[in-house]
Amino acid sequence: MNSVTKYACAKINLYLEVGNRRGDGYHDLTSVMQCVDIRDRITLAQSPGAGISLTTDSRRIPADNGNIVCKALEAVAGEYGIRRGMSVFVEKRIPISAGLGGGSADAAAAINAADELFGLSMTAERKRELGARVGSDVPFCVEGTPSLVRGRGEIITPIRGLPPCWIVLAKRGKGLSTRIMFENLDAGGRRPEGKNPDDILTALESGDVGKIGAALHNSFHPYVLNLHRESAGIYNVMKKYGPAGILVSGSGPSVYAIFPEDGRARECFRELKKQGGDVFLCRPIS
Ligand code: C5P
Repeated sequence: MNSVTKYACAKINLYLEVGNRRGDGYHDLTSVMQCVDIRDRITLAQSPGAGISLTTDSRRIPADNGNIVCKALEAVAGEYGIRRGMSVFVEKRIPISAGLGGGSADAAAAINAADELFGLSMTAERKRELGARVGSDVPFCVEGTPSLVRGRGEIITPIRGLPPCWIVLAKRGKGLSTRIMFENLDAGGRRPEGKNPDDILTALESGDVGKIGAALHNSFHPYVLNLHRESAGIYNVMKKYGPAGILVSGSGPSVYAIFPEDGRARECFRELKKQGGDVFLCRPIS
């Protein structure tokens, strides 16, 4: 086998409650993550010589060893004593610094590709463990099935995800740094105790898009809408179309709206698309 291609899917958070800052600087999270059909494509090949080289069709991610994809491949190579060279090509469709886990998804896809290319027979647990070393969302992305995610991001419990529905997702303006958004949350002092995830989990079990929309929650949501004018604008457009729910994804600034049917979703998509930026009409992946 000379090369392996894997797809990397964007995630949205249906629920994200940020707990206390821990001694190691990270925060304890309770999160519900769901993949949607916005995909990057990762192609990994063996190459002559040693080392890892990365090329990409995007001008907005590092094309060197600073890329999280290289860090993930270095972790695999170190663990399995792989000395052969690797070249990786990243085709980027997921918006960057958007709260959609694009870098983490690429890193997870690279781990899955290396497993196959070198016949490593890694267990999912092993992949998650290696993934956690390079980014908090990577363990979820290894399999990408709808999950309740806890701890720093490494405790994953598969759950029933979104039923078939339509999601309008938009990101406009400057990206946001996850680290800085966590710092903003901390600087805001004590936050009101968030809801627990029971409501969203019960709503997902029911398969009722209306109930799911009403249970969406994200600790970052009010901060992002306050800070990021373009996201507030997107939110206001989405609201006009009466979706089941609207939420900022992750630490922002992407905003998504969930619709049970495609009619108003398409109209909402068309209006946002006219205004520019990254706009998608997408579906959940189960
Ligand atoms: O792990 P990752 O590199 O994706 O995290 C980016 C930044 O987000 C971290 O440096 C940290 O500041 C913050 N973070 C956090 N708690 C988490 C995950 C991320 O504080 N559970």
